[in-house]
Amino acid sequence: MKNNRASQTAYTVLQGVVHTGRQQATKSLVSPEKMAACLTILNSSGEGRRRLRQLENPVLSAGLLLLQRLLMPGIARHYVTRKLAIEEYVRSSIAGGAKQVVSIGAGFDTLMYELSGTHPSLTCIELDHPATSQQKRLAFASEAPANLHLYPVDLSTTSLVETLAQTPAFDPDARTCFICEGVLMYLAPADVENLFAALTEVTSAQLQFVFTAAPEISSPNTNATWLLKRYLHRLGEPLKWTIEKEDIHAFLASQGYGATQVLDGRDMRGQYLPHLPSGPFHLGEFVVACAPLHRE
Ligand SMILES: C[S@@+](CC[C@H](N)C(=O)[O-])C[C@H]1O[C@@H](n2cnc3c(N)ncnc32)[C@H](O)[C@@H]1O
Repeated sequence: MKNNRASQTAYTVLQGVVHTGRQQATKSLVSPEKMAACLTILNSSGEGRRRLRQLENPVLSAGLLLLQRLLMPGIARHYVTRKLAIEEYVRSSIAGGAKQVVSIGAGFDTLMYELSGTHPSLTCIELDHPATSQQKRLAFASEAPANLHLYPVDLSTTSLVETLAQTPAFDPDARTCFICEGVLMYLAPADVENLFAALTEVTSAQLQFVFTAAPEISSPNTNATWLLKRYLHRLGEPLKWTIEKEDIHAFLASQGYGATQVLDGRDMRGQYLPHLPSGPFHLGEFVVACAPLHRE
């Protein structure tokens, strides 16, 4: 992570969502509201506008597709399907009584913005590295609903417990759904374990946690290529915590959690892209929903 600039991987995810939402075969997966929010964010910075120009210029856009094929075939479709899986889970958590949602490493994801608009009594909190958080704040400026709170934090230097304790909007007694999408793999293993411990420490109420995890780039269970490793190093965002899907239950148990749902690439493709059974689609990163084992 380069400290003084917004996360390049956060821009890449946003660019992938816009690209997928503009393709005939996949446009129904990105709602007009989500597309509008993504464009607001991209249009608010020089880097975002550069990413949009890449999509709109046929030569640059062909280059992007080639890069995607070389690094992670079908990753843009994966971004959209993992977001749909997470959104479904979070909405069911809200329907089940969650009063606040906390997105850790929210990047330029738009779910919290969308939820805060449609659920005025829901507290929506986003935490991200200062440069990225500040860019998002600028993007939404006066448009951000009053129940959407964006807080800057570097989780490699400040603990989640400390951060949420100093976050006035966070209610430690409210039933909470935590999200950590596309982030844990960029944290050191010790920081990942601290994060699981922190969630049970910061709230006394029921909690649910939905996150994504990925195996090593050399794993037979991912179609990410070895070039990706070099690329992420160059961006200053190398993968630090990786795990195989088959090991996730044991890992969660060691942290005092149990999984309620594990969706891998094949599951998400079957669920959201049944009309596109072939063609590039990233298989590697998977979505996990879990809750502490010993809490009512
Ligand atoms: C791949 S992006 C994912 C963004 C978003 N969750 C999504 O899926 O669209 C990874 C995010 O993790 C954040 N991140 C990485 N390391 C972090 C740290 N040490 N503290 C806070 N945020 C961090 C980055 O700023 C970035 O927004």
